[in-house]
Amino acid sequence: MLKKFGWAIAALVVIVAVILFYSSGRFNLQQEVAEQQSCPVFPSRTVERTPFPIAPLYAKKNFNLAQKIKGLSEKQLDEHNTLYEGYVQKRNEIAQKLTEVDLSNQNKTYSAYRALKIAETYALNGSLLHELYFENMSNSGSAVGPQMLQLIEKSFGSFEQFKNDLMAAALCSHGWVLTAYSIDDHLIHNYVLEAHNQTVPVLALPLLVLDVYEHAYMIDFGIKRAAYLDVFFTQIDWNVVEERINRWVNPLNK
Ligand SMILES: [Fe+2]
Repeated sequence: MLKKFGWAIAALVVIVAVILFYSSGRFNLQQEVAEQQSCPVFPSRTVERTPFPIAPLYAKKNFNLAQKIKGLSEKQLDEHNTLYEGYVQKRNEIAQKLTEVDLSNQNKTYSAYRALKIAETYALNGSLLHELYFENMSNSGSAVGPQMLQLIEKSFGSFEQFKNDLMAAALCSHGWVLTAYSIDDHLIHNYVLEAHNQTVPVLALPLLVLDVYEHAYMIDFGIKRAAYLDVFFTQIDWNVVEERINRWVNPLNK
């Protein structure tokens, strides 16, 4: 009996073994595909983040303010310059910290990363706006240049109306006034910034920057901002404004 069905039993065992082998392989393949499909495209944020190779390092600029500006005391200018250098230093500190931050578990109620990103813009604008401001002042006694005058007349009708608008903005602003060229309407506007990183216009290129924080004039003028503004207006270096138009505005209109 066993001899009679031996070959049949052996064949059945082989068939079953083959079926089990392929079933096992197919299952493993399906499982592998499923694992691949569920795998995120990007690695998990919980893994340790590879830091940026090098944090950018920003150098402070030297302006020799007491030599180039008249009407503001050396103490006033020194204090202001020290404040500016602090913003550059903080900009560098923040840039370094941003390379070390843990990006996982972000939360809109509190996030160390968010705090750094807000401080990043504050220090960035605090640095750059002071540089633009210090650069566009000198005792050169320059007159408004032809390109700026053309923009002023196109945007405000006359130099007098432009100046009236600029002075009004300067008297009511909490922080900065920017005379900026808008890439949107190709006119210049006097924008009021509530702080370094608040109410900053987009698509606007700063041509003339005016600091109206109290620290810009308090030592020399107390709370008399208008007296400071009179001095500022005599110290505008309009040649710098023309250079900014050449550098930033003219290439857009070619
Ligand atoms: Fe300032």
